[in-house]
Amino acid sequence: MRSLSDAKSESDLNSVKGIFFGKKGTLSEIMKGLSGLPIEERKQVGAAANAARQTLEAAFDARLAEFRERERKTRDAAGLIDVTLPGRLPAAGHRHPISRTMADIVSIFNRLGFSTRLGPEIEKDYYNFEALNFPADHPAREMQDTFFMDGPSSDLLLRTHTSPIQIRTMESSRPPVRVVAPGAVYRCDSDITHSPMFHQVEGFAVDQNVTFSDVKGLLTEFCSMMFGERKPLRFRPSFFPFTEPSAEVDIECVICGGKGCRVCKGSGWLEILGCGMIDPAVFGFVDYDPDLYTGFAFGMGVERIAMLRHGIGDIRLFFENDLRFLSRF
Ligand code: DAH
Repeated sequence: MRSLSDAKSESDLNSVKGIFFGKKGTLSEIMKGLSGLPIEERKQVGAAANAARQTLEAAFDARLAEFRERERKTRDAAGLIDVTLPGRLPAAGHRHPISRTMADIVSIFNRLGFSTRLGPEIEKDYYNFEALNFPADHPAREMQDTFFMDGPSSDLLLRTHTSPIQIRTMESSRPPVRVVAPGAVYRCDSDITHSPMFHQVEGFAVDQNVTFSDVKGLLTEFCSMMFGERKPLRFRPSFFPFTEPSAEVDIECVICGGKGCRVCKGSGWLEILGCGMIDPAVFGFVDYDPDLYTGFAFGMGVERIAMLRHGIGDIRLFFENDLRFLSRF
């Protein structure tokens, strides 16, 4: 076996290799002879020998790869696969903590008799503001820094809350209605507790004789189902254009149990949602008789609830999709 082209197997290859690279092989002899040469010649011969070594090595590697590939094909063709080797399992994923929290909230209200409705994320000014009793140019619109599709005079915008689903639902159904509406919402706002895209769950009910105590009872029940034990709630007077009266609801801080800590800023309370009695002016937009019907509405931030539930201090962690974070859930 004298040449590379004669080699027919890996072991042929190794014997040809010996001719060049072995202890007494051609290249080794040349290297040994270098010391006997005058300095100028030594440089030239040394460089040529190195170039030859590289060329040869590449040629041997290419042949070796060829033999191995041929061997693999033969093995595969003969069906020589070791079926006793353990399989490679694909890593199992799971739902994002925000999706899960949102589904849990919706499921609690479903069990309490509310059906689910969705609405578009690109919304008309009419549904996002006007029919919710935000008058044109009223400063209340600035409570929610809005992404307009086409500048501030645009009629289309990214909905700033899930409340427009109230209007869309009432337009297409008559009382009694009991609906929860989850979804993504958008505002120009970004820091450790605000993300420009976040999620809300809206809920509302309209019927004869619906009162504020109905929403108090419902939300108290919701909080104990969500947080696993009966938590004291606090209703604080507030303002929303589409509810009158309006309230913001705090629960006892889930971190410190009401003693006061960094998360509740020492107050012992955490704000988790807004609610109120639907303003009769809103009923005017959907043709519900305000003398016959009353309704309550509420809206909550899903990230906020997920943060409380899992003790997470920075909302941005939910959206970076770092698996080291997500796989903790
Ligand atoms: N839409 C309000 C917001 O995004 C939240 C809200 C407050 C919804 C009171 C309601 C409500 O339905 O009654 O800030």
